[in-house]
Amino acid sequence: MIDALIQQFESPLCGFSTGAALDVVHPAGVVRDELMQTHVYSQSEHAPPVQSVPPLRIGVVFSGGPAPGGHDVLCGILNHLRPEDALIGFCNGPGGLLRSEHKVLTPDDIQLIEGVGGFDFLGTDRTKLSTTDQFNVVSDVIESMNMSVLIVVGGDDSNTNALFLSDALFGRCHVIGVPKTIDGDLGYPPYLPVTFGFHTATQHYARLVQQLAIDAVATKKYWHVVKLMGRSASHVALEVAHQVCPNACVLAEEIMVSGWQFLDVINYFSSVIHDRFLQKKPYGVIVFPEGMVGVIPEFQSFLSGDIGPLNECLLSIGASPLSMASVILDAHGNPNLSMLQSEKIIQDAIAAHLAHHYSDASNVQLMAHFFGYTGRSEDPTAFDSAYALLLGKTAYELALSGVSSVIVGCDFSSQGVQPVGLPLIAMLHFDDARSMHVIQKQLVSTSDPDYQAYVQQKSDWVTLDARVPRSAWFEYPYRFRLGDER
Ligand code: FBP
Repeated sequence: MIDALIQQFESPLCGFSTGAALDVVHPAGVVRDELMQTHVYSQSEHAPPVQSVPPLRIGVVFSGGPAPGGHDVLCGILNHLRPEDALIGFCNGPGGLLRSEHKVLTPDDIQLIEGVGGFDFLGTDRTKLSTTDQFNVVSDVIESMNMSVLIVVGGDDSNTNALFLSDALFGRCHVIGVPKTIDGDLGYPPYLPVTFGFHTATQHYARLVQQLAIDAVATKKYWHVVKLMGRSASHVALEVAHQVCPNACVLAEEIMVSGWQFLDVINYFSSVIHDRFLQKKPYGVIVFPEGMVGVIPEFQSFLSGDIGPLNECLLSIGASPLSMASVILDAHGNPNLSMLQSEKIIQDAIAAHLAHHYSDASNVQLMAHFFGYTGRSEDPTAFDSAYALLLGKTAYELALSGVSSVIVGCDFSSQGVQPVGLPLIAMLHFDDARSMHVIQKQLVSTSDPDYQAYVQQKSDWVTLDARVPRSAWFEYPYRFRLGDER
């Protein structure tokens, strides 16, 4: 698969034109009719030759949380950039775009940033571009720099804004999205099965979790309680679980299905600890995603300002009550669950529950960990690097083909890999909570083969220990491994 990505990346520039029809009904009046596209854009011999397109000045901006491979997106463009075109990187995210902070990128930059992780070469932020005033400022910046294309490298919220920005800039500047997020919750299979950054971050976390598991086997005295990044969807925790087989794991989507409450989760973790204690294994590893607290009713009350129900639970098992901490929301209204030390709350609750219900095991020693930010700046895996290079090249090809309002995708399901331009409008749905149309976050689906495999296997993991030889690290995400086996 990596070879196929590289081969596509190294092939000469190609024009794109409308390809397969999409089975979607677009919401009326959200953007102008010209952007209500119903086809994907595919490579086509019939598209006008890209070499004859007049010179382009292209802007590119990182938006939202960093993800490994961002620099390769830039390299993907720079590697193919025609001498008559210019690539300008906006610095410090959409906020920097509004302030026109920028630097000209040249092919010489490739040697500095190719295969190097993070977003630090340009910087990023979470400014939400959505108001008419902001669109007017962007329009002025674009016009003053004589730019005709803007490439937005971002997740679901950033690409939602890219769609509305493309509507506001219609006729003056084309807007193209590139899908990134370590959370893996931006997708539209088969045209967009995965975002860049997901694979690297999950490999990184899987290594860290496995190292804890190895240490636990060696010393036989600690239980590690690990929270992983993944704000809404649990793709990250699911992938890590498949790679490492933790002794206990709960996903947010699993809780949504089971209707578990706080004490059900604590009881499950404690009972796994007790089971292993009876097997003379007072050590192990627990994994859960940070988004788990967003679906546990008592934590939901906490996130909306009422600590009462959570404290009632804590008191009922002899744990200390918490004082209300403020939860920070980003510009898009998402709570920052990385800053909330839920891993510590879960650790303390498990300890109290063990003392309350399993007094024989009450001396086990628990340690809380959070693995998040380091995974966003890791050097990309071979898969992410090759994928991001291709996404960057495809964004450039779509720009040369005069396409706007699309996000770059890649269909892995057919022979080889087929880059595409997917209309952003096709990914939109109405979000009741926010009362607006947004790109739908893709949660873990309980019908996904990798979710079902997880549900079938997790009870076997209770008794497992890390061992020699170590399990191999997957070359690419588990969902593609399943695909290979079919
Ligand atoms: P994106 O959706 O912007 O890619 O960011 C995802 C993420 O890494 C989440 O996993 C995490 O909850 C959040 O960013 C942390 O945000 P911040 O960088 O603002 O602390």
